[in-house]
Formats: sequence, structure tokens, C-alpha cells
Amino acid sequence: MNSSAPIGIFDSGVGGLTVMRKLIQIMPEENIVYFGDTARVPYGNKSKETVLRYTRQIIRFLETKQVKAIVIACNTASAYALHEVEKELPIPILGVIQPGAIAAVESSRNQRIGVIGTYATIASRAYESSIKKINPQIEVFNKACPLFVPFVEEGMLEDVLTDGIIVRYLEELRNSNIDTLMLGCTHYPLLRSSIEKFMGSGVTCVDPSEVTSLEVKKILQAKNLLNTQNQHPKYEFYVSDSAQKMVEFANMIMPFQIENVQTIQIES
Ligand code: SIN
Repeated sequence: MNSSAPIGIFDSGVGGLTVMRKLIQIMPEENIVYFGDTARVPYGNKSKETVLRYTRQIIRFLETKQVKAIVIACNTASAYALHEVEKELPIPILGVIQPGAIAAVESSRNQRIGVIGTYATIASRAYESSIKKINPQIEVFNKACPLFVPFVEEGMLEDVLTDGIIVRYLEELRNSNIDTLMLGCTHYPLLRSSIEKFMGSGVTCVDPSEVTSLEVKKILQAKNLLNTQNQHPKYEFYVSDSAQKMVEFANMIMPFQIENVQTIQIES
């Protein structure tokens, strides 16, 4: 494997771009291949078997791009599939749960942490067990917020309807005296300012993308695979459904304009 090989990153949809933009910020010289499974989003209400099958299909695709490491940006796939697929791969593969749990524990002063995510992520209790492994005294308050994903996919980042759903989902957590809220889904950082406004200044929202990206950097460094000579990094984008939708969304949130997104057939 050579250091100019790209990093592969995937998500159920467009939300993983929040992790990709952090990877770029932390490792601006890396080539990156992004895959968004836009034909099959959301993953959060699917079974573990289905999410594992999808994850394996995407990994096979990323391997054809000769990636040197894979980041599972999707929390649901991290919760359901990482343990299985990490045993099957010769290259490093990381999810967002473990790094996110570390960041949440570091942020909390009162040892009361809220975790929001899809049905699947919350049902897996992956964040809760990772947090409690670090500090068993911490109390974790879980809440599934499944409607946040379609609202974000529709680009309704600041909208009166989105604010209404935030109130419906988060009121109970706001009353539970948490000081940290884990944004346990790739899409949720895009609602961060509305969520923060509702939760108030006593609650710190944690987005796992930064710690995950730092962890990727550490792993590549340890393996001598960091790309440090690249003045013109190449970013490739692939989706399983409409490329146009991805272009529009990416151009709303990425620090540069993208034009070229390819739609591929991921089922095999
Ligand atoms: C989903 O596909 O339901 C959301 C992505 C995630 O879990 O991060």
C-alpha cells in the first residue's frame, strides 16, 4: 500500500460529508473517495443483517478504488457492522462510535450525557456501552430521533418544521440535566445550531467527526501512510441514486464546489 492511495469514506447518504469535510480540514493532502448510499438511505430503521450486507457491498466497491483505510461515517453502520467487517479487512477501518464516546466523556463535567441517533444506533446501545466502558459512573440518556435524517436529506436545515421536531424529540433530554449531547448520526451536525439553541448554553453538543478524523490521522501516521506531499488532492464522489441531488447538497455544505458525482450500481 502506498501513501498516495485514497482514504475511503462512506455513509448511508449525504450526511457523511460532515465527516469528509473534517477529514479534509485535518488532512488536507489526502486523496479521498466518498460513497453515499443515497438509494437506500436511511439505514437507521433497517435490521442489523441488512446494514451489514450493505456495508460489505460498499467496502467491496471502495476496495476497487485501492483505498488505504476506510472510515464508516454512518453511525448506524458503525454500530451494527464495524465489529464484523474489521475482522475481514487487511486495511484499517474505523467507525465513529468509539472516538465519539471518548469526546463525549471528555466533555462532560456532571457525568450526565445524552445520546441521540437513529432507531438502530440507539437500540444497539453502542454509544452507551462505549461511554460506560470509559467511565461506568456516567449516566446515559438515549433518544432516537429518526425524522431528523429525512429533514436533513431534504435540505431543511433551518426550518420551522425542523424546529418543531427538535422540540418534540429533545424536550425530555433538555429536562434531564445533561451537560453533553452526543450527535450520534452523521446528519445531526447539520442541525447543530438549531439543536444548540434549543438545548441552551449549559449543554455541549459533541460531533464525532473531529475525533474520528484525528484518529484516522494517527493510524495512518503509525503505518507510515500519511500523504504529506500532495498539493492537489483528488476527491471522488459516488452515490447509488441521483448524482444531481448529491451535487446540490454537497455544494451547500462543502468548502468547495463539486461538479462530478457518479452514480453506481452497488447491489451485487
Ligand atoms: C441513517 O442512515 O439512518 C442515518 C445515518 C447514521 O446513522 O449516521
